[in-house]
Amino acid sequence: MPDGIALLEADHRLVEALFATAVDERDPVAAGIAIARIADLLRTHDDVEHAALYPLAVALGLERDLLVRSFAAHAAVQDQLQLVATLEGPALLSAVDALHALVARHVEEEEQQLFPALRTAAEPGMLDELGARILRTRQRAG
Ligand SMILES: [Fe+2]
Ligand SMILES: [Fe+2]
Repeated sequence: MPDGIALLEADHRLVEALFATAVDERDPVAAGIAIARIADLLRTHDDVEHAALYPLAVALGLERDLLVRSFAAHAAVQDQLQLVATLEGPALLSAVDALHALVARHVEEEEQQLFPALRTAAEPGMLDELGARILRTRQRAG
């Protein structure tokens, strides 16, 4: 069974690669495809973390402020995704840049603070259970 944190980190690396493609791509159609994949991945990642990651973090008593900041970061990312969906041209690219900054800041906090705290607090088998829940949630998300 995969370690749940490793699955989430793999999502983080994939979305970083997609942001790099969206920014570097000169063909607007290819850039648009990368942006659509970013939006899909971030929506599924949001579902998965709310269904599996954050309930475990709460159950293990992780620092409340860290969780409050995480929920606020997810809400800000979802708001920015709605904005991105309404734009095109240069306004779209600057909204994608702002989305990238929001995601990068939250990913850094998750990987530097939340994940290490979770690894310390988790008992044997819990991160494998997290992995199983993540995979089930992803299947339901489609
Ligand atoms: Fe994440
Ligand atoms: Fe997150």
